[in-house]
Amino acid sequence: MAPDDDGLAQVRGWIADADRIAVLTGAGISAESGSPTFRDAQSGLWAKFDPARLASPEGFAADPALVWGWYASRRDGVRQAQPNAAHRALADWAAVHRGRLAVVTQNVDDLHQRAGSRDVIRLHGDILEDRWFDTCRRQERGEPPCDPASARAGEPPTCADCGNRVRPGVVWFGEPLPVAALDAAEQAARRCALMLVVGTSGAVYPAAGLARTARRHGARVVIVNPHESELDDVADLCLRGPAATLLPRLLA
Ligand code: OAD
Repeated sequence: MAPDDDGLAQVRGWIADADRIAVLTGAGISAESGSPTFRDAQSGLWAKFDPARLASPEGFAADPALVWGWYASRRDGVRQAQPNAAHRALADWAAVHRGRLAVVTQNVDDLHQRAGSRDVIRLHGDILEDRWFDTCRRQERGEPPCDPASARAGEPPTCADCGNRVRPGVVWFGEPLPVAALDAAEQAARRCALMLVVGTSGAVYPAAGLARTARRHGARVVIVNPHESELDDVADLCLRGPAATLLPRLLA
């Protein structure tokens, strides 16, 4: 069911009144750019692939070539995808209302940035980044670390010096989130007057907890999602519909 005009008007009013807005985005905001989500029952990545084999340090250690190949094809998908109207609406609004909007994303694509959003807080890393799987041996010796860009080709590429393997710069299951990003996200959640939760199932913590933090600190919470989410209980209002339709209407 599409949200009624009253609901949209109410949220537009909250947006106008809020001195600080935080937006928490998930895979659903990139769905209309052609990127698969994770938990859709038919097309979601985790419906087709085993996260323990493909998105954990143990899975990578067991079969690096399999994991590297899977991320290589996801990287191709990210490079081919284009930002959609939802990414653009956020970037355009922030450019006009400087200092009022913080974008916190669970997405590992770069579509917010390519739409023009600046200072995006990336909780789950960057799929296009290369990093070493193990701590660089040179770094352990107190020397400047080897550059993953100079790794010897292979699946995955390896360090010519010590054989260390290159991995994608995403957060895998069982790994901590980047501390600086999580701190910045928590601060945005605590300070905002309004949080928009866009295109996330709200199933993965600590990211999903940011909506609860915002609510606890007095913010209004609005969910933009065509389906129910695990954060609906926190929301003042749930706008049921696709992000690329609703965000331009909210932020025009
Ligand atoms: P999910 O796949 O769990 O949820 C995607 C959400 O987007 C669902 O609630 C959909 O209903 C909604 N959705 C689908 N199409 C939409 C549209 N056009 N507009 C708005 N919403 C739409 O993805 P996330 O919540 O992002 O972790 O998943 C969280 C984390 O789990 C991901 O960051 C990933 C995964 O394991 C890492 O990569 C570390």
